[in-house]
Amino acid sequence: MKLFLAPMEGVVDWVMRDTLTRLGGIDQCVTEFLRVTDRLHPESVFYKNCPELKTNSRTRWGTPVFVQLLGGHAEPLALNAQRAVKLGALGIDLNFGCPAKTVNRHDGGASLLKSCDRVFTIVDTVRKAIPSEVPVTAKIRLGFDDPSKCLDIAQAVQEANATWLTVHCRTKTDGYRPPAYWEWIPQIKEKTKMKIVANGEIWNVGDFHRCVEVTQCEDYMIGRGVLSNPYLFQQIKQSLTHEKVTETHWEQTKLLLPQFFEASTLYINDYFAVSRTKQWLKALSLKNAEAKQVFDEIKILKKPKEFRENLERICR
Ligand SMILES: Cc1cc2nc3c(=O)[nH]c(=O)nc-3n(C[C@H](O)[C@H](O)[C@H](O)COP(=O)(O)O)c2cc1C
Repeated sequence: MKLFLAPMEGVVDWVMRDTLTRLGGIDQCVTEFLRVTDRLHPESVFYKNCPELKTNSRTRWGTPVFVQLLGGHAEPLALNAQRAVKLGALGIDLNFGCPAKTVNRHDGGASLLKSCDRVFTIVDTVRKAIPSEVPVTAKIRLGFDDPSKCLDIAQAVQEANATWLTVHCRTKTDGYRPPAYWEWIPQIKEKTKMKIVANGEIWNVGDFHRCVEVTQCEDYMIGRGVLSNPYLFQQIKQSLTHEKVTETHWEQTKLLLPQFFEASTLYINDYFAVSRTKQWLKALSLKNAEAKQVFDEIKILKKPKEFRENLERICR
């Protein structure tokens, strides 16, 4: 069984992948989507999206990272996939799930779920454009407005020879509103032979085992859950080997934050680091009252110097 860290644009960048994969339990990462319109991105854009390309497409802790592309036109997607592979990408993931208005207006992400043919053409064209040993994978939602086409979409992805399919078990219209409809996965599995990765609303070890019970998938992907509890993957792995599951302690979690801040400073700049650290503290606050206290204390600080000083004082 493999556990995937979900791609999250504006959240799970190089620094977050590095921070989380260091803690263990994550078997596979996917970059934030790289939007493709009609042109071939320069190499610098790929390196920005996936700095791991320079380290054999693995995080410093050895976890493989696939490059995710998003777009509505097969040819430019194929050209960009070729470049990613030339730069060392271990696999290409195609995004058919993004609900953002700007993305869908420009004909990418979840809007493509309205047409099985277009999904097929994109996966097929990208698949044929890169060497057969490099996986091409797809990530979908159950549909755009409703899940009526989801079995056909999954079949189209399989016919195009994708290596696996990740299913975020909601439609575009559902947005991120709970629940996730895991019960669609057994139907998709019945119609297809490729590997399915189940995704959506796994927030804790209990949710994970319920998802296993319903979907019987080999692999699982988690996004927001690990942002609120960075040790979630490790805990799930412990539960699978019947080890005692170690609890998450704020005293331990808080130590991650100054390191995360400094790494984000180096990755982009000080102001970026302030905003990303606040963003992560907000996500941690969802499940942790102590994190909320820290968030409330430093959310008003805008200047990097005072933010850093306070973060160091509170979290070291
Ligand atoms: C802020 C944010 C950004 C996201 N960006 C991406 C993305 O770049 N590519 C993608 O395939 N999915 C993206 N997603 C969807 C997640 O990968 C995942 O499918 C979704 O959050 C459901 O999983 P979860 O309940 O474990 O969070 C994003 C989700 C969020 C909340």
